[in-house]
Amino acid sequence: MELRLDERTALITGGSRGIGKQIATTFAEAGAQVMIVSRKAEVLEQAAAEIDAASGTKGCQWMVGNTGHPESAELVVAETIERLGAVDVLVNNAATNPYAGPMIDVDLPRWDKTIAVNLTGPLLLTQAAWRSWMKDNGGVVLNISSVGGLSTNAVLGVYDLTKSALIHMTQQLGAELGPGVRVNAICPGLVKTDFARLLWEGDRGAEVADGYPLKRLGEVTDIANAALYLASEAGSWITGQHLVLDGGGLVAFNSLG
Ligand SMILES: NC(=O)c1ccc[n+]([C@@H]2O[C@H](COP(=O)([O-])OP(=O)(O)OC[C@H]3O[C@@H](n4cnc5c(N)ncnc54)[C@H](OP(=O)(O)O)[C@@H]3O)[C@@H](O)[C@H]2O)c1
Repeated sequence: MELRLDERTALITGGSRGIGKQIATTFAEAGAQVMIVSRKAEVLEQAAAEIDAASGTKGCQWMVGNTGHPESAELVVAETIERLGAVDVLVNNAATNPYAGPMIDVDLPRWDKTIAVNLTGPLLLTQAAWRSWMKDNGGVVLNISSVGGLSTNAVLGVYDLTKSALIHMTQQLGAELGPGVRVNAICPGLVKTDFARLLWEGDRGAEVADGYPLKRLGEVTDIANAALYLASEAGSWITGQHLVLDGGGLVAFNSLG
């Protein structure tokens, strides 16, 4: 019963594909009205139709927005309130990873872009949602971080730094925004989406899965089900936390045995 979002509205960035699209579908199935945001209108339109079809609902809203553009945050939140009447749940899911290599060699444009999309965007969206709705009406913010934010990596250090900072932002805002607003993060391991294709294509996915105690890669539903738990009343005593969903990978890699 508590795993419901009836009469709730949810704004999901990066909702046109992958994890964000499944979160939108799962939230719609749980009774929420959803708004998805990403950069390409045609993909959004198609995704909204598929979310409606998969969830058996009508009226998935979509809007073009780039979370790396500071002016986008207020526009997106205002449009969500205009069309849906509220922004009860904000899912900061969109992210980018334009640079692969040692952090010591990163160039300024790609450093700036990674921080703008993965860190500044979630902050500005949370500020806009807080100021225009959640401060007076309550709400839930979910930040999609990564297990990468909890470790080091030879080539993903810049991306991982933003995911680590997103965990800290989650803790900080969790402390600041109670009791009305809860702020939590999810840290996925490897999930088979376009974003992570280079990490699982060919034999690589099977190798990673083999290192996970649960012996499989993540599905988008694994992440969406946890997001529903954290967004719903079932998660009502949880704030400032990050939930690792990685088939046990992190504990296995840290194991001395
Ligand atoms: N897949 C994994 O293994 C994995 C592991 C750990 C964490 N994560 C995290 O999970 C989240 C979702 O990743 P995913 O794997 O589902 O990726 P995905 O399948 O590539 O989807 C990314 C979504 O974000 C949108 N997007 C990208 N840049 C954007 C921007 N600047 N402004 C607005 N929307 C933007 C994309 O649409 P457009 O490109 O059309 O804008 C798309 O809807 C990310 O935060 C990622 O870091 C993923």
